[in-house]
Amino acid sequence: MNVTSHTSNHKPDTGAAQESLEVANPWGIEAPSPALIKSPIEFLFVEHNRQRQAANILHLVADGEFNKGGVKKLIDFLETDFAVHVADEELCFFPLLLQHCPPEDNIDKLIERLADEHKKDEGTITDITAVLNGLLAGEKLNGKVSRTIRGFAEHILQHLALENAVLLPIARARLDEKALCALSDMMKERRL
Ligand SMILES: [Fe+2]
Ligand SMILES: [Fe+2]
Repeated sequence: MNVTSHTSNHKPDTGAAQESLEVANPWGIEAPSPALIKSPIEFLFVEHNRQRQAANILHLVADGEFNKGGVKKLIDFLETDFAVHVADEELCFFPLLLQHCPPEDNIDKLIERLADEHKKDEGTITDITAVLNGLLAGEKLNGKVSRTIRGFAEHILQHLALENAVLLPIARARLDEKALCALSDMMKERRL
């Protein structure tokens, strides 16, 4: 198995780079290099970093701060890249893990939980983007809306932490070169 040739591209400093961008512009969500998709697990990891940036912006909004351009980009991110990432996981990544993991990994239960959270996210994102569009139109933030936004930010962070801590390490151990290439190809096709 030649997993290391794929995983050797997974430079841990990507997260640090994302963090420094985050500090430079707290309202920004930096796009990953398209070339990174050849290392699909690392690409998923970088998407999780972008989701963390989105969660930070949601926290800023929940705290009463506002930046028109940042909120517009956040809405765009939630409606496009966030949704594409969920499709990557549901349609490509999860099925490959189910195929390649032995029963003792108990991956099916974890995937069931994550897929259930994705389903709930769909409805929540519709509500959150409606709220954000309302704020852009001049509506005022109230306590209930602030709590809803903060709750979604916390949920994003919890979901990606679980995927980073459990799912990605299992994938690095279980997906062989062929599976990683298939995953990379499917993710590329979704972005054509
Ligand atoms: Fe997910
Ligand atoms: Fe994810």
